[in-house]
Amino acid sequence: MTTRWTVVVDRDDLTKTEVLHDELPELPELSDCEVLLRTSRVGLTANNVTYGVIGDLIGYWNFFPAGGPGQGVIPLWGFADVVESTVDALPAGTRVYGYLPMASHLVVRAKLTSAGFVDASDHRVELPAVYNSYLVTTQDPAYDERLEDLQVLYRPLFLTSFLLADQLVDNDFHGAKTVVISSASSKTAFGTAQRLRGQGVRVVGLTSPRNVEFTQSLGLYDAVLPYDASVDVEPSVYLDFSGSADVRSALHSRLGAELKKDISIGLTHQAASQDSRSEFFFAPDQLRKRTADWGADGLAQRFGEAWRGFTAQAGDWVGVVQHSGPDELIDVWQAVLAGKANPASADVITF
Ligand SMILES: NC(=O)c1ccc[n+]([C@@H]2O[C@H](COP(=O)([O-])OP(=O)(O)OC[C@H]3O[C@@H](n4cnc5c(N)ncnc54)[C@H](OP(=O)(O)O)[C@@H]3O)[C@@H](O)[C@H]2O)c1
Repeated sequence: MTTRWTVVVDRDDLTKTEVLHDELPELPELSDCEVLLRTSRVGLTANNVTYGVIGDLIGYWNFFPAGGPGQGVIPLWGFADVVESTVDALPAGTRVYGYLPMASHLVVRAKLTSAGFVDASDHRVELPAVYNSYLVTTQDPAYDERLEDLQVLYRPLFLTSFLLADQLVDNDFHGAKTVVISSASSKTAFGTAQRLRGQGVRVVGLTSPRNVEFTQSLGLYDAVLPYDASVDVEPSVYLDFSGSADVRSALHSRLGAELKKDISIGLTHQAASQDSRSEFFFAPDQLRKRTADWGADGLAQRFGEAWRGFTAQAGDWVGVVQHSGPDELIDVWQAVLAGKANPASADVITF
């Protein structure tokens, strides 16, 4: 027998956690096409908190159903190893990267693709395809064993940074000279700032007073201001990673018609507020457009180049702190959820 664990949270109160334990046979019976994965290494950032905050809206609770009524499992990005398989192409020992539960194990129904497989389990069929794909590391040209920590932390975020910056360039910055970015200390925000450097716009970061120094130290923003400071009045685009209604209102009041575009990407402040003045950034639209413009290979080549440039620097910006097991996973979850995590360090958990 082997013990498996799953961390569940209360959907209405994300601070309430519980570890569920199961005693299961070492190698359980799998149906045709099923593969048993053992979770190995994951990252945890504010992005995972957002999955919980808008879990009902987007269907994030439906990926990994577990627990009782009102409970759910938070999805994480990371690596897992095949421990048992009914699929010849995915033998035990195969290492994969993708969307994983806060749990020691996961059974998927693998439908093979050129890069790995898709989980075709019934409960995932209706969910956004990007979250159902798993990459086999030996088939992934971007995989580098030495960069696993950076991959679990940044890869899901940096694709958004890459596409968001590209969409602004593609639209000539909507006539703006400045890009104002909130939650500037967050990884997705500073990844965007990195992509905007040298593109002919001023990049201004807004952040909490306690994170000003860290955000300045990145050297990616032309100016870093605390949330209550006033930005210069000039043609600007706002990229909102915070979701703060107060910051949005203050910017609209100050910039008026000079605010050429207001784009929502995240909600680190954990309030899902909708405002008709802001457009939601939908990464798959830009992904589709650039696949048509550049072809899938052209896009992969450009993203690969950008990713290599980013990872060459990212290790100097943010240190990695290692944790292990369900109890430390919960400690990290509570710290990130409470906004207590230090942006100068990022958390990787091995299971
Ligand atoms: N739409 C998309 O496709 C997409 C893709 C990726 C990420 N995102 C979103 O982008 C946002 C950033 O994600 P990330 O993983 O890059 O974040 P991260 O690196 O973990 O960001 C941490 C920062 O977020 C702010 N923050 C975190 N918790 C907070 C709290 N409880 N209260 C107030 N502020 C808090 C703080 O920044 P400040 O002090 O600077 O505010 C903190 O330094 C998330 O909302 C995520 O969902 C969206």
